[in-house]
Amino acid sequence: MQKGPDFSWVLNKREKNYSLAKEFFSDSISSSALNFHTQIPGYERTPLVSLPKLANHLGVGSIWVKNEALRLGLNSFKVLGGSFALYKFIQNRLGMDGKELSYEDLVSKEVRDKLGVLTFAAATDGNHGRGVAWAAQKLGHKCVIYVHHETSQRRIDAIASYGARVEVIVGTYDDAVRQVSLDAEKNGWEVISDTSWEGYTQVPTWIMQGYMTMMVEAQGQFREMGIAKPTHIFVQAGVGALAASVVGYYYSHFGKDAPKCVVVEPEKANCLYQSAQKGDGKAHAVKGELDTIMAGLACGEPSELAWAILKDSVDVFLSLPDYTAARAMRVYAAPIAGDPQIISGESGAAPLGALLTLLGKGGSKEVCEYLGLNEESQILLINSEGDTDQILHRQIVWEGSNAVPSDYWLE
Ligand SMILES: Cc1ncc(COP(=O)(O)O)c(C=O)c1O
Repeated sequence: MQKGPDFSWVLNKREKNYSLAKEFFSDSISSSALNFHTQIPGYERTPLVSLPKLANHLGVGSIWVKNEALRLGLNSFKVLGGSFALYKFIQNRLGMDGKELSYEDLVSKEVRDKLGVLTFAAATDGNHGRGVAWAAQKLGHKCVIYVHHETSQRRIDAIASYGARVEVIVGTYDDAVRQVSLDAEKNGWEVISDTSWEGYTQVPTWIMQGYMTMMVEAQGQFREMGIAKPTHIFVQAGVGALAASVVGYYYSHFGKDAPKCVVVEPEKANCLYQSAQKGDGKAHAVKGELDTIMAGLACGEPSELAWAILKDSVDVFLSLPDYTAARAMRVYAAPIAGDPQIISGESGAAPLGALLTLLGKGGSKEVCEYLGLNEESQILLINSEGDTDQILHRQIVWEGSNAVPSDYWLE
């Protein structure tokens, strides 16, 4: 491990291994996820936005932002995973694995009569629960969502607005994951968890596979512009399922020519960074309050499955303070003249926060060189959420909370 002035990194020197990526993120699975999502009423692919002025300012080729704030009116990418998992779950329950089941079939009376009304349950730090509640309501099933006591009332209300019952538990996101799984067993609920553990991998696999729609769309958008693929990807991580899906997709499709991949975590909840730093190939948990403004990334225990993919594919793990994400939210909201404005939440902005930090004062020449970041680089960032908590968004963007220490101000 090396420490820069205000952030930490691990250069991952493990030998690359593509086998798990190829197994989980094949063409046929990504096509099936896309095929399902495109049938959802209101589906539109999210924009891939270019920030040419910022790229020029930072001395890189291009910065592309996949803007998931515009995903199905839900302000975050998460619904891609929850909805695909419900689809696969129902297909499996009906004994129709491998057969086509359309969205229309899913909401049909015939399927509802066969299944009865199910109760889907999940733990969340906000966005996953909202996606599962939304999908359960669309398909006519019940939903119970567990949140931890630090979850903002705005996020709780957003989940409840899709007809879900919300249970608040004392503890962290990881405690909520454990509690929902215990209560589901007692009550006969079906757990739709985005994190995996020993003996529970099927649903989290479907969730990661559902996220692939984002990359299939992005690759289509790149191809339309005559770009084969990005050279670098920066992706944020909580339990690591999103990152495993993004990185796994590129490894599965491009093998050793995959873009360089950087995983970004808050320093208060950096379980993947810590696992990489320990260097024994195992997933390690981070304890404590996990009190970061990046609520979607406030997870102390990696998904076992995600870690198995990430440990042999990611190039650099970064651990950053909260103010780096806050700065990125402001840069997105008040761009250099000529660049488009993007509304990005605390977790959504983390990858841009990392890029600004790496290339700014107090950045790291070593990491930039290791990644080959230069004026040729085509960098893909995932804006995984918009202003999912509008009050917090305004406190940061309007009122300037979580200010960057002046030593690290950008020029
Ligand atoms: C907005 C947002 N971005 C990123 C993530 C991280 O996803 P994962 O927990 O799969 O690493 C989450 C997780 O909830 C999220 O809500």
